[in-house]
Amino acid sequence: MKFALTRKRAQPAQTPLDAQAVLNALSMAIIVVDGQGAIRHLNAAAEQLFESSLGHLEGMPLTELIPEDSPLFSLIHQARTNDCPVSEYGVNLDTLRTGPRTVTIQVSPVSEEPGSIAIALHEHSIAMKIGRQMIHRNAARSVTAMSAMLAHEVKNPLSGIRGAAQLLEQNASEDDRVLTHLICDETDRICQLVDRMEVFSDKRPLEREPVNIHRVLEHVRRLAENGFGQKVRFIEAYDPSLPMVLGNRDQLIQVFLNLVKNAAEACPQDGGEVVLSTAYQHGVRLAVPGSDSRVHLPLVVSVQDNGNGIPEDLGPHLFDPFVTTKPKGSGLGLAMVAKIIDDHGGIVEFDSQHRRTVFRVYLPMVSNESGADI
Ligand SMILES: Nc1ncnc2c1ncn2[C@@H]1O[C@H](COP(=O)(O)OP(=O)(O)OP(=O)(O)O)[C@@H](O)[C@H]1O
Ligand SMILES: [Mg+2]
Repeated sequence: MKFALTRKRAQPAQTPLDAQAVLNALSMAIIVVDGQGAIRHLNAAAEQLFESSLGHLEGMPLTELIPEDSPLFSLIHQARTNDCPVSEYGVNLDTLRTGPRTVTIQVSPVSEEPGSIAIALHEHSIAMKIGRQMIHRNAARSVTAMSAMLAHEVKNPLSGIRGAAQLLEQNASEDDRVLTHLICDETDRICQLVDRMEVFSDKRPLEREPVNIHRVLEHVRRLAENGFGQKVRFIEAYDPSLPMVLGNRDQLIQVFLNLVKNAAEACPQDGGEVVLSTAYQHGVRLAVPGSDSRVHLPLVVSVQDNGNGIPEDLGPHLFDPFVTTKPKGSGLGLAMVAKIIDDHGGIVEFDSQHRRTVFRVYLPMVSNESGADI
């Protein structure tokens, strides 16, 4: 049998493609440098990575942005000498503007512009973030089952025990009353703990509406300044043009209250600083492992502190319930954060070193239509 091969001819484009818009649509950071090593172009993701604008950086030597001893420069040298693209996986990029990150670098000579080099920086963590978030989700699920059990099996008998202690108290001597009070206080404490866990077993669908995340953060900052964060200096770095988050205001307050409380508790006694910041991340779509769907989570809210950092061995279990290093901690704060952010379809991740620990929450925005932009 013969098949007739027909080839569809590409329709001539209506208007020429706007190369800049195409570059800005990419989630990887792209930098173009000329033969002298001066910056010619930066796409939107690169502006965001280096927290600066093309207008400001154009014409500056690349060494202003990236330290001269970075492996990037030897890659550029190789690409120029061999006139072919080179790439390296897992490069440490540590600059004043970006902080330390692990990236994949691809360096390609631009043949139409002799001497020019295009550099693509791809942050590693996106895939890892998703992987870690899946672990957090599992952690949140295991707490869900347990909290439902606790509510039934612990809270109900506790109210019986408390009632019995109150009855005994009526005819008890002064000395025994100390003991009945102790029973009541301790049952109250356990009830509060179980109440705190109830959020995990709440299976009602999340009520979401457009939320101004800056109001949420200001509210949290005010609560902190008047309570646990009195000794801490709060710095706010907000992107004023940030769109609304599609979320539940009360639950988001809980999330950021927990993150800010942890940050304040980690801060040194003197000179403690917590930086609250928001940013819009262009076009980042994250593939969800195990499914074809991709989530669009352009809003990034960060809580950064200058404490000692998270011990390395704690990292993989940080979002599990009951993981704590504090004498009076319950270890439920971050498990609750993971659960609520999961319910919002978002992602929470952290980067930690000495004097710089950042928790980043990625959230969906409200789209023009009524639903989430996912
Ligand atoms: N910003 C941070 N810097 C250093 N360590 C942190 C930070 N945030 C969390 N941790 C570590 O993670 C652990 C778990 O935090 P989580 O909020 O879940 O519980 P907790 O703060 O110990 O107790 P709770 O929140 O119930 O009071 C903490 O005990 C602490 O060791
Ligand atoms: Mg906590």
